[in-house]
Amino acid sequence: MTSLLLFIFLTSLTVGSASDQNPLSQKSNLIRYWNKQTGNSHTKPVFLLSKASPLSAVESASFSKLATTHNYSALSSRFSAFCASANLLCFPDSSLRTITDAAGCSFSYSCSFKYNYDKRSHTTGIFFRESMLKKGTVMPMPDIQDKLPERSFLPRSISSKLPFSTSKISELKLVFHAGDNSTMETMIVETLSDCEKAPSLGETKRCVGSAEDMIDFSISVLGRRNVAIRATKNVNGSKHSIMIGWVKGINGGKVMQQSMTCHQRLFPYLVYSCHSDPKVRVYEADILDPNSKAKINDGVAICHMNTSSWNPNHEAFLELGSGPGRIEVCHWIFENDLTWTVAD
Ligand SMILES: *[C@@H]1O[C@H](CO)[C@@H](O)[C@H](O)[C@H]1NC(C)=O
Ligand SMILES: *[C@@H]1O[C@H](CO)[C@@H](O)[C@H](O)[C@H]1NC(C)=O
Ligand SMILES: *[C@@H]1O[C@H](CO)[C@@H](O)[C@H](O)[C@H]1NC(C)=O
Ligand SMILES: *[C@@H]1O[C@H](CO)[C@@H](O)[C@H](O)[C@H]1NC(C)=O
Repeated sequence: MTSLLLFIFLTSLTVGSASDQNPLSQKSNLIRYWNKQTGNSHTKPVFLLSKASPLSAVESASFSKLATTHNYSALSSRFSAFCASANLLCFPDSSLRTITDAAGCSFSYSCSFKYNYDKRSHTTGIFFRESMLKKGTVMPMPDIQDKLPERSFLPRSISSKLPFSTSKISELKLVFHAGDNSTMETMIVETLSDCEKAPSLGETKRCVGSAEDMIDFSISVLGRRNVAIRATKNVNGSKHSIMIGWVKGINGGKVMQQSMTCHQRLFPYLVYSCHSDPKVRVYEADILDPNSKAKINDGVAICHMNTSSWNPNHEAFLELGSGPGRIEVCHWIFENDLTWTVAD
């Protein structure tokens, strides 16, 4: 009995490490690309690496060929296999309501406006002042959990070949089996429309359908190769009272001229909408259980130092009791959201 268990344990260890190190996996490709483009080997969030496509090199090449030759009917006929092996968001139309409700406007950035937290006004403690980011502060932490359905990126060799525009909606509907007026169609159209919306004055924005595109876009927004990603490690502390432990200001605590923030969008494969965020301070803070003082999370917070163009009715001002340009506004980076800065 014991030796059988040991055998199973050893076997699973071997299999586990072998697949992790498969040099042909999309994850290995991504790590190599990331290190090469940025010239650093800065820590990469585990969750982002876990979003690399599970497709094997062979499967990827085969789907990529169909996308390259615009053979959407062949892709469409292989929809089930494509969905399952690429870990996409695919569903029969009857089950759509739940997904819409779960994702809908309850998610911080999914409705129209990038700082629109209005729909979540029932939660407190989303926004806070910079002065609170110091050792010993006890404060509420909002629900930072990502409510969007789990899915993976497509390999760039596929996503870059698929249409990504409202003008190509019929091709997308064919590939992803989205019926007329289905929730899937609505979801695709909403995301594409949001991605096609012109940036606000001085803003740079783009939707990316692969981690590689995100890396390239951050290098162009930040104007240098040596970039790094910052994200809150997990959701521990969410909806609870937390204590701030050790705090570190990124970039020596100086205001950064430019950073880039990316939020997930609903789409059959993982898509992020990224936009430049000028004049921010980014902090890393240990998040402690206020009772035991044990560290439960590595938090990343971003403080927007110039709020003069924000709407006076912005939830942050209602919560903090102030107005545009009079205060800085800080918030945690929510689960699966990402902030890119120049590497320290
Ligand atoms: C599309 O792909 C299918 C299956 O691979 C193939 O039989 C068909 O000839 C292709 N059509 C075109 C127009 O390339
Ligand atoms: C889809 O919605 C449009 C506009 O509401 C309507 O005209 C059309 O008949 C609908 N199509 C189907 C197949 O239900
Ligand atoms: C924090 O979260 C991780 C992953 O969700 C979990 O494994 C761990 O036990 C949590 N740690 C604490 C101290 O709650
Ligand atoms: C703050 O932003 C406003 C408008 O976006 C701009 O006119 C102003 O120069 C900025 N102030 C600073 C100190 O950068």
